[in-house]
Amino acid sequence: MLILAIESSCDETSIAILRNGKILSNVISSQYFHSKYGGVIPELASRAHVQTISSIYHQALNEAGTQIEDIEAIAVTNQPGLMGSLIVGTNFAKGLALKHNLPIVPVNHIEGHLYSGYLQEPDLSFPAICLVVSGGHTVLFYVHSYNKYDIIGLTRDDAAGEAFDKISKMLGLGYPGGPIIDRLAKEGNPAAYNFPRSMINSGDLDFSFSGLKTSFRTFLHKNFPGEITEGNKKDLAASVQAAIVDVLTFKTISAAKEYKVKNIIVAGGVSANSQLKKDMTEKAAKRGMHAVFPSIQLSMDNAAMIGFLAEQKLSESGADPFHDFTFTAAANALRAKRK
Ligand code: KG4
Ligand code: ZN
Repeated sequence: MLILAIESSCDETSIAILRNGKILSNVISSQYFHSKYGGVIPELASRAHVQTISSIYHQALNEAGTQIEDIEAIAVTNQPGLMGSLIVGTNFAKGLALKHNLPIVPVNHIEGHLYSGYLQEPDLSFPAICLVVSGGHTVLFYVHSYNKYDIIGLTRDDAAGEAFDKISKMLGLGYPGGPIIDRLAKEGNPAAYNFPRSMINSGDLDFSFSGLKTSFRTFLHKNFPGEITEGNKKDLAASVQAAIVDVLTFKTISAAKEYKVKNIIVAGGVSANSQLKKDMTEKAAKRGMHAVFPSIQLSMDNAAMIGFLAEQKLSESGADPFHDFTFTAAANALRAKRK
């Protein structure tokens, strides 16, 4: 099965070609220009998708050494995300599918992240605990199979990536904040300041990051009313990163213990964080668990993860149900309800 997959839910335009679960190409174009606004501007994001999607499409086919005539199915992210951005991808996908008479598989972006661990490690067994941690989501899943999962933990307010981004802004650093804080933290002291590990003792698997954001802002106003030195920024970055990473690691390992699961997957943009990777891998190994972190290319927003899941859906139900073009883009939707 040769699949062409499209992802455009936020500020990455990505098209991938997969053959039988193997990636032939996975072209990702990131809209770096949003950094000067300190966050993604939806209207500019959708316009940039319109401008780039066609050349990304040709590049993906070229890199894979394929032609559209060889493609057997189209996959596309249809939810959740920025409405305008999703519409660009879904309309492009529908146009291709109509013209070439191909089935089209709408895929939930979060589910794409959720199963990206299986794209990284095809031999990974079910069940697994998966932490999807990005700019918009912090969710813990119990994953039974490719078509069954339960949500077992959720953030009650901000996502962890959002906390990284907002704290970076408070420090006068750029956007997206996660990679910048990650880099600065490597030279800072994580024990320099003690920021709250919110809900670490809540006894459930939920998260909260808005309190950390507020306490960081109050701390800065009180202790650093003027210019912050580079050295202090490094310590602040390391300390606040430690607070976020401690909670993410603790709750994920607790979930694996509670559900007696050996495999842990950490996916979504924040899974690129080096401290999170180190702590989670070490703590999991100590308990005989195995933590999978998809490669950077598979953990950021990318079309390969969308194509991979579409292929599972096609092999389960065949192509017939996917000749229905009536699906629409939807800004906010997670298929499963909270358990
Ligand atoms: O999954 P993603 O690319 O987009 C969605 O939000 O769906 O995630 C982007 C988020 C941003 O908040 C960014 O700051 C964060 O991932 N991020 C990181 C790192 N790299 C990206 N956060 C912490 N450490 C990183 N190295
Ligand atoms: Zn994402």
